[in-house]
Amino acid sequence: MTNPTTAQPLLVVTESSADSQLPLTHRPRRLRSNATLRRMVRETHLTAADLIYPLFVMEGENQAIEIPSMPGQYRYTLDLLLREIKEAWDLGIGAIVLFPKVNDALKDNAGTESFNPEGLVPSVVKAIKKAFPNLIVITDIALDPYSTEGHDGIVSEDGRILNDETVAILVKQAIAHAMAGADMVAPSDMMDGRIGAIRQGLNSAGFFDVVIMAYSAKYASSYYGPFRDALGSAPKFGDKKTYQMDAGNSREAIKEAELDIQEGADIIMVKPALAYLDIIHILKQRTNLPIAAYNVSGEYAMVKAAALQGWIDEDAIVLETLTSMKRAGADLILTYFAKQAARLL
Ligand code: PBG
Repeated sequence: MTNPTTAQPLLVVTESSADSQLPLTHRPRRLRSNATLRRMVRETHLTAADLIYPLFVMEGENQAIEIPSMPGQYRYTLDLLLREIKEAWDLGIGAIVLFPKVNDALKDNAGTESFNPEGLVPSVVKAIKKAFPNLIVITDIALDPYSTEGHDGIVSEDGRILNDETVAILVKQAIAHAMAGADMVAPSDMMDGRIGAIRQGLNSAGFFDVVIMAYSAKYASSYYGPFRDALGSAPKFGDKKTYQMDAGNSREAIKEAELDIQEGADIIMVKPALAYLDIIHILKQRTNLPIAAYNVSGEYAMVKAAALQGWIDEDAIVLETLTSMKRAGADLILTYFAKQAARLL
């Protein structure tokens, strides 16, 4: 049988002579002609030092439970968490952020367990800092993992999220984490005035050097779904739209970031990242502070799901995606792909 494609006469294009050339002065392709040249003129470089690895921790020993909607991510007990951190550290990752799976029996509406100095996060922070003194340990400041209601703040009888009462708890939580040795606290709750209150609280407790990374522009996003599965922290009623931001807004992100900066944020964050690259870009023009982008659980899940189907080239997509966040203006990226990316770099 003849192959119809090879049966076709081939159109052969030879090197064209000088007179068939376009009279172009500029040929942008010149700088793309080989890999070494492309590397020389590349504007954005991703490095392991840019990456912050979010990790889920739980009570117990010798257990790692895979999160169904986040293949390759686990809730670890402390012993296995330390092993995971060692791998990340050896790959050049300098920072982790911790999220606790809190036992239901310890939860209440005010998230009281969140500031227990003997609680899961403080004890884990102590152990990590002992084993890896130079690793930057970041803790999440918010009530949702500790809240019976699954909200980031205290819920009033009529179902509102109480701002100022919540901020008072967040300050205690931040101090408890600082006492345990956290290098950085990251308030993710979106209550008004919490950055100023936490800065003051940390200062008066003597923790002048504990860094605040503020989730400044945190949107009410469906991209957090897999994370809430991981911690069993989904809201019991309603949604988070009275405190997290509306996806339609960008000027509001500037307002939030400006307030956090005035109140003493050291680093500001945009979250999620991929659907909000414009926000990263806008804030980059407006501040000299480092900007972090959170490549959230839903973004991770989408890439993993397509890769597991064999529909995309996972490694290439991971690097391209993280590069887009840096190119938009992020200095730091929180990503569940941290180890994978560090290995590829
Ligand atoms: C909780 C918190 C959330 C995330 C980080 N901190 C969830 C939420 O606000 O509901 C999401 C992270 C992710 O999706 O990867 N305050």
